[in-house]
Amino acid sequence: MTELAIGIDVGGSGIKAGAVDLATGELRGDRYRIATPSPSTPDAVVAATTRLVGRIARAVPEAANRAAVPVGIGIPSVVIDGTTRSAANIDAGWIDYPAEVEYQRALSRAVAIVNDADAAGIAEMRFGAGVGEMGTVFVLTLGTGLGSALFVDGKLVPNTELGHMEIRGRDAERRSAANARIRRGLSWKAWAADLDEHLIAIDRLFSPRLFILGGGVSKNPDKFVPYLTVRVPVVPAQLRNDAGVVGAAMFVAERSQPAPADPAAAPAPADPAAAPTPVDTPAAPAPDDSAAASS
Ligand code: BGC
Repeated sequence: MTELAIGIDVGGSGIKAGAVDLATGELRGDRYRIATPSPSTPDAVVAATTRLVGRIARAVPEAANRAAVPVGIGIPSVVIDGTTRSAANIDAGWIDYPAEVEYQRALSRAVAIVNDADAAGIAEMRFGAGVGEMGTVFVLTLGTGLGSALFVDGKLVPNTELGHMEIRGRDAERRSAANARIRRGLSWKAWAADLDEHLIAIDRLFSPRLFILGGGVSKNPDKFVPYLTVRVPVVPAQLRNDAGVVGAAMFVAERSQPAPADPAAAPAPADPAAAPTPVDTPAAPAPDDSAAASS
């Protein structure tokens, strides 16, 4: 696995980014945040993200190496084979947009695109509240929309989109996302009742063992978790604002791995005595972002 990857989290209001140490899940250097362009068209978001990657490459010297440091990008959309297929809280131009191809062209790096909640979920399962949690676990991100990431024995089942379950005749996230509380001017208790209804509906369908709740509200679990009556244990996410960035970086790093060789197809091991002696050649200079970067 590469040791460093850049993670980007495209949200309804902000784009966050950072270089992530893949062994620890910690950021190497600062976390950057800029406002999501409005309108959040693919062209505008790709351009803003490209500038962010340039800033990271200047600030973290190892991250400047384009050949060695890939970029994972979380988008609030269903993502199938690198193409974004939906757009609930982002410009409609993302529907059927070949995001992976376009980002690869813009960044000249290996890129992988992942749903934003799936990315946050990966980070929580590896480094946060989900470590060691087996069985069916949901990581839900409560923000502009409500994102869902389903894990079975630690393995992601992507694109579950439970924010769009129908409850009381409309998209559940219209009532249970964190923004819904602000938009509707609700008390924490009143909003918790709506969120509770959503969690109970998910329990009815999936019988999970655990809900991990992320997004900005995970900083204030005391304000709403005590009001929840759902049978399933509910815990706040631990990575807070970094989860989307860290998970996107993990996603691209794991995807960049060459598939393990099929042992049956592998040639017989060579006689070590006959192996050629490795020659110490200087590595070719890797393409580098730092020279070209501008602020
Ligand atoms: C989108 C999801 C996203 C979630 C959180 C929903 O409206 O459909 O793809 O994960 O918001 O951003």
